[in-house]
Amino acid sequence: MSIVDVQNTPDHTEAGEVPPWWRQAAVYQIYPRSFADANGDGLGDIPGIISKADYLGGLGIDAVWLSPFYPSALADGGYDVADYRDVDPRLGTLADFDDLVDALHSRGIRVVVDIVPNHSSDQHAWFQEALAAGRGSVARERYIFREGTGPDGSQPPTDWDSTFGGPAWERVEDGQWYLHNFAIEQPDLNWSNPEVRADFVTTLRFWSDRGVDGFRIDVAHMLTKDLTEPLPSQAALDAMPRDGQHPMVDRDDVHEVYAEWRKVFNSYDPPRTAVAEAWVDKGRVPLYAHPESLGQAFNFDLLQADFAADQFLSVVTANLELAAASGSSSTWVLSNHDVVRHATRYGLAHPERDAEGRPTVKHGLEWLRSGGASSGIDREVGARRALAATLFMLGLPGSSYLYQGEELGLHEVAEISDAERQDPTFFRSEGEDLGRDGCRVPLPWHTDGPAFGFGGGGSHLPQPPWFADYAMSGQQGDPASSLSVYRRALELRRALQTEESLEWIATGRADVLRYRRPNGWEVVTNFGSTPFALDRDDSQVFSAEPLEGALPGESTVWFAPDDDR
Ligand code: NOJ
Repeated sequence: MSIVDVQNTPDHTEAGEVPPWWRQAAVYQIYPRSFADANGDGLGDIPGIISKADYLGGLGIDAVWLSPFYPSALADGGYDVADYRDVDPRLGTLADFDDLVDALHSRGIRVVVDIVPNHSSDQHAWFQEALAAGRGSVARERYIFREGTGPDGSQPPTDWDSTFGGPAWERVEDGQWYLHNFAIEQPDLNWSNPEVRADFVTTLRFWSDRGVDGFRIDVAHMLTKDLTEPLPSQAALDAMPRDGQHPMVDRDDVHEVYAEWRKVFNSYDPPRTAVAEAWVDKGRVPLYAHPESLGQAFNFDLLQADFAADQFLSVVTANLELAAASGSSSTWVLSNHDVVRHATRYGLAHPERDAEGRPTVKHGLEWLRSGGASSGIDREVGARRALAATLFMLGLPGSSYLYQGEELGLHEVAEISDAERQDPTFFRSEGEDLGRDGCRVPLPWHTDGPAFGFGGGGSHLPQPPWFADYAMSGQQGDPASSLSVYRRALELRRALQTEESLEWIATGRADVLRYRRPNGWEVVTNFGSTPFALDRDDSQVFSAEPLEGALPGESTVWFAPDDDR
């Protein structure tokens, strides 16, 4: 019996056409500085990624999303971009980038790059020019400079907070202040300035011309701002509805920017794609995912859910409906470079809760603060649940975004000293928030050797000894390893991802979810601890092997279409 039947609108395309690749892609996120280090300087690089092209080809992914690899002072892990149209010399050259695109394309993998339009680095030539040019200059108009308040202007223009903690304004030598919604080194660009708009179009064309297939748009909801004087206070901003007219976030007029970008994307064959990182009210996500806007938007609901059937059911149902409303496909994310890895989150004894009792995006912070106390986590439980959740996700209609290392079942690293931390959230919160370094530690490729095979030298963030247990080389020959399960599921997933819908099948248990895709593929996840009796024994892939016809607790199994049923 079906309890919910969610039917997405089929496509942006005409009936009968092959749907565009991005609608149901498995996209693998690479954080380049922590993936593979070819020159042994402790920092991952583009030649390092090229050296792993066969590994990526063997994973069965459809696309790679590269977090920023541009020149950067690394005040925010590369999200402080000093030049949008170049490669950080520590990571390689533009020629290396072209080789990477070729290496991935030749293995059938598309390439998505990160665009960071809300802010540049303070090292960007424009910002340096703005500092030198002084108040009232054309150069300052590319950013958001204002006079301070108080008799001598020594107080910031407003009391606004930055997302990373601390004030959102910084004073420059001549006394003016500039807005930075993130780190001090990330001045916000002025999207009312046509020159800023034109420059990003140039950047999108630059990478599209180099063969890039799509773009991930950083903080897509914050570009346009209404800075009409008098500027409101932080309390007033917080109290304002987020209805498209809020002065700072999720403004309707940001879609004018994306409508222009859409024309650029569609001027290529095939059209370039984009996915929005937009932390907005659920009902407004379809505006970003709309075919006339960016075309797809991240949905972060699964990474803010417990490993619990009721939460997964409501997240999936709600997001398939939203995707249908936008004409786009849904996206699913369990881990990325901004959150504690899902293997760790699911193993925590005391996950942090928000006011509604849900895990927060800072889920895991308390455990990190404890230095990764073993009493606070059951790593095996976390890993088992993580693999079950991943298989549940990979079977869903829409695109799954995977984060490097999750295929190894990798856990968050808590053992990072204050002196080794890099994340600006750690510094700006004065150590209150330990930040995101723990999910950005360079990957273990080998069970031993320098930096566990990350490169010939060191590692820019410390790898703990237990990384050896998760190394790729130790998993590749083992059919029961996390890596093997990911590979098998990603391979099967291509057959499974046809029509974008699912039907929930009643299981008689509140802690077991079962769904069927229109082509007959079925996914069953037991979120509980009691085995669930299965009515089939022809599983194609599982996170824990069914025993005596029953799916063990905290595990997922996939069944292929069975025409006799
Ligand atoms: C979102 C990115 O995912 C995050 O890593 C970054 O710090 C902020 N945007 C600011 O660019």
